[in-house]
Amino acid sequence: MNRLSHLLIVVSIGLFAAACSDPESSTETAKQDPFAHLTAEEQETFRQGQARAHSCAACHGPMGISRNRMYPSIAGLTEAELKQALLDYRSGERTNPLMSPQARGLSDEDIELLAAYYPLLSTAR
Ligand code: HEC
Repeated sequence: MNRLSHLLIVVSIGLFAAACSDPESSTETAKQDPFAHLTAEEQETFRQGQARAHSCAACHGPMGISRNRMYPSIAGLTEAELKQALLDYRSGERTNPLMSPQARGLSDEDIELLAAYYPLLSTAR
């Protein structure tokens, strides 16, 4: 065995040992659900909001953070702000050629759930 391959073996054993003792790997299972800290009631609201937010993600991003300047980020808005904005687009108080049609079909319940959903989403760990 030449010195180089010996060195490579030593290095790879070292890497393997480092990977095994990685303190992160033992907490892997706890990390899987970033919303485990929510109460059961919040988790239910979250699920129902999420089911309504698929179309929103196309413009506002899956986490409410937009990657396109044409669309604002909605992460960081409070529940009250989200609710008011959606009510205003739906009623025509506030108009936008892209956003107004999105709000038009929302029920009161949809608006409640979407407004509750985004602030919960922002608590992801
Ligand atoms: C086709 C793209 C598009 C989709 C889909 C869309 N939006 Fe929007 N949204 C916009 C645009 C553009 C604006 C900015 C409108 C303006 O300037 O008044 C906006 C604005 C908003 C605002 C106000 C933001 C603020 O800072 O006041 C909220 C809240 C919002 N959208 C929520 C939603 C929700 C919830 C959905 C899903 C039901 C959704 N949007 C779907 C394009 C979209």
